[in-house]
Amino acid sequence: MAPTTQKMLGVPEVGKPWKLYTEWPVPTLGPNDLLVKIVSAALNPADWRIQENFMGVSILAKKWPFIGGLDGAGIVEEVGSAVTAFAKGDKVIAPGSFEQEHATFQEYNIVAAADAAKIPENISFDQAATLPVAVSTVASGIWAHEQGSRSVNFPAPWEEDGSTKFAGKAAFIVGGAGSVGQIAIQFARLGGFSPIITTASLHNTEYLKSLGATYIIDRNLPDATILAELQKLTEGKPIVYAFDAIGYEATQELAYAAVAPGGAVVTVNPAADVALKEKVQRDGSAKAVGVCFGDLRIPPHRKLGDELYGRLTEWLEKGLIVPNRVEVIPGGLLGIPEGCDRIKHNKVSGVKLVVHPQETE
Ligand SMILES: NC(=O)c1ccc[n+]([C@@H]2O[C@H](COP(=O)([O-])OP(=O)(O)OC[C@H]3O[C@@H](n4cnc5c(N)ncnc54)[C@H](OP(=O)(O)O)[C@@H]3O)[C@@H](O)[C@H]2O)c1
Repeated sequence: MAPTTQKMLGVPEVGKPWKLYTEWPVPTLGPNDLLVKIVSAALNPADWRIQENFMGVSILAKKWPFIGGLDGAGIVEEVGSAVTAFAKGDKVIAPGSFEQEHATFQEYNIVAAADAAKIPENISFDQAATLPVAVSTVASGIWAHEQGSRSVNFPAPWEEDGSTKFAGKAAFIVGGAGSVGQIAIQFARLGGFSPIITTASLHNTEYLKSLGATYIIDRNLPDATILAELQKLTEGKPIVYAFDAIGYEATQELAYAAVAPGGAVVTVNPAADVALKEKVQRDGSAKAVGVCFGDLRIPPHRKLGDELYGRLTEWLEKGLIVPNRVEVIPGGLLGIPEGCDRIKHNKVSGVKLVVHPQETE
């Protein structure tokens, strides 16, 4: 039986520092849910941004205290009465959300069974915890087809043409070393793109090649030099797809400039589509624009979420995708503020930061 209270790290109100709550109620599960004992929780830029209300994003918090944590992995502790696909003791990928009960900066969270996936033997809890936000984000920008989605509508690998439509076509990922960027490289590889070119700090070169990148360009070079390098590396072949995995105005611009007329440009900045579409109208380039929103529970992503989560275990088992590399921060939940600070100040490179909530003193 799960305890009735637990440790949780939350933000009491807008702009306040993180606080450890030691008697926070363990959420109760509904018939279609799992109660998961969180072994590993991964950190995302959204955690510090909501805590600090960076650019007003704390409106994303559904309730206060805001419990952080969009990514998790753990062990099923209790199973809802209508759930048949999971049993107590299963190791699962446990996505978080901005809702208190789903958030992963606590010892137990609630996950709808439809949103969970079993962790295969070859993947650790720490690795598994890096996946939910990154896979949801990239997939939402490229593979969502339902009404209301804002993707570029590429066929997914499980659909007809999903691995052949773009075979041999050039793709460019801006910021391949980030958590999202690492998955963007791998999803481009699954889509058959070649070459796949990315920008990163050069010490990440070998790692990003192991994920499927063909060439790495130093991200510190001026944009004009990067664009000239792209021309050389593709030998003039048009770049038909660019994915901005960073979301700054400058990185969006770079992705946009790299794509040939008629190609597709996608950014992790969910607010960028209007401006980018206006730009397409102005320059008549007929580029398709997609933006990401890494929540597969919203109606335009629901079908995609079911398809993707239904395949995740097998993809991981077969090595078709690999999770991010991880660095575990000691101190359990109390390590999170330091981790958030490092993410904020760009002091994380090529790894995802992970904590172990159960190790909180
Ligand atoms: N729309 C959504 O739903 C959604 C979901 C998740 C994330 N996001 C956004 O996506 C962005 C990335 O998130 P993340 O979790 O992947 O971040 P992350 O893992 O913390 O990203 C860190 C990496 O960013 C790279 N980087 C930083 N500035 C760069 C630049 N100018 N050009 C190329 N690479 C650069 C660094 O690469 P090097 O180490 O190689 O220098 C570093 O490894 C964030 O802005 C986040 O808010 C959006």
